[in-house]
Amino acid sequence: MSKNIAIFASGSGSNAERIVEYFSGSEEINVKLFLCNNPEAGVIQRAERLNIPLVMFNRQAFKSGEVVKILQENQIDWVILAGFLWLVPQNMVEAFPNKIINIHPALLPKFGGKGMYGHFVHETVVANKETESGITIHYVNENYDEGAIIFQASYPVLPSDTPEDVAKKGQVLEHKHFPEVIEKVILG
Ligand code: GRF
Repeated sequence: MSKNIAIFASGSGSNAERIVEYFSGSEEINVKLFLCNNPEAGVIQRAERLNIPLVMFNRQAFKSGEVVKILQENQIDWVILAGFLWLVPQNMVEAFPNKIINIHPALLPKFGGKGMYGHFVHETVVANKETESGITIHYVNENYDEGAIIFQASYPVLPSDTPEDVAKKGQVLEHKHFPEVIEKVILG
């Protein structure tokens, strides 16, 4: 039986697209659904282009458990957060214990927590004159960026790097590693 995954995204969705590409020929892992909380998000066009069913939801549906119901109705086995910005509610963590995976654009526990996302992370890395940064793939619990770490990869930050440069280096690593790590975790 193949495993169904749902991908949550709030933004551009380039990681979501990479994951779809990576598993497009797979008989073991099936990207069944995209879920999005942001009507402006680029991932909406990607879903259409990739022909992946998309569910839009609001805070109320997320908190009340309606979103969990949708996941269960779609027989989702694993939840992937790829640039998803809301805190996952307790009801979802309980419904998918150790089955929710997030990617964070820094080397946790550095530069994590509420408000530490996207360009804020990379701006802080540059402002702090860090000499390296990286990506973290981790399980999700009910606190921002605190679940057990599954995988990290790092890259050098040069004194001349702008936050945009840092973001680009991170994105290359995310696209390279995220699908492979998902595959390893799910298939064991
Ligand atoms: C990634 O850098 C991810 O780590 C972060 O948000 C970004 C999402 O990019 N949390 P995209 O929407 O997949 O292009």
